[in-house]
Amino acid sequence: MRRIAVIIPAAGKGERFGRREKKIFAKLDGRPIFLRTLELFVNRDDVCQTILVVSRADLEEVKTRYGANLGFMGVRICEGGEARYDSVRAALEIVNDDAELVAIHDAVRPCATDAVIDAVFAEAAKTGAAILASPLQGTIKRVSDSGTIDATVPRERLYEAQTPQVFKRQVIAEAYANPPESMEGVTDDACLVERTGHPVSIVESNFTNLKITTRADITLANAILKARPAAKPQKKLGAFEEAQW
Ligand code: C5P
Repeated sequence: MRRIAVIIPAAGKGERFGRREKKIFAKLDGRPIFLRTLELFVNRDDVCQTILVVSRADLEEVKTRYGANLGFMGVRICEGGEARYDSVRAALEIVNDDAELVAIHDAVRPCATDAVIDAVFAEAAKTGAAILASPLQGTIKRVSDSGTIDATVPRERLYEAQTPQVFKRQVIAEAYANPPESMEGVTDDACLVERTGHPVSIVESNFTNLKITTRADITLANAILKARPAAKPQKKLGAFEEAQW
């Protein structure tokens, strides 16, 4: 059943990406990153609405260059704001009333697999709030102002939050209706939901669902996509595991 509205925030400035080309228009294996990300969702049977959030500065260019594609894909375009919070809030205002769940997924995470998207959608349907997250792999150090190590932080139970982050529509609406006074430290949507007291589940993902931040990440993302089996792998032993990464 189609009951999930998907919000794709793409209204960031992409300042760490370099000035030669805006990140939103940079290509991954021949197609802009944000289109690749949208393609993860638009043909799913459980998605009822897809909203792409674009900055005012990019709006005209997106409409001119990609309006036809986006229209064909059934994607609605919405104007974002100064902070990610403002962009998501603008999109939440136009989410269909009949959507049961709202999934928020960074436009710059084009390598999420169907398997992890299925898993986080299923968990959110069960619990009301779930996000993808990747367990930390390295040795974690907390560093003092002087640049020396204060402590080695045990990495057990530490995860890096990713997207999709998926919530019952009322849960995320309530979180956005009651924002904290300061947005300092609020870097994802789960953080706002956590503040309301609603538990947020973790669905384990891995580093391949990377966020493209710098140009080097494009090289990595291309390698990840290339190393994956074809979109519809033949059923065979181990195919699920392969599709996961
Ligand atoms: O800045 P950050 O890395 O958290 O951005 C994550 C996602 O949120 C990106 O896809 C970016 O385009 C989007 N974003 C947005 N509006 C902003 C800031 C970020 O839609 N004002």
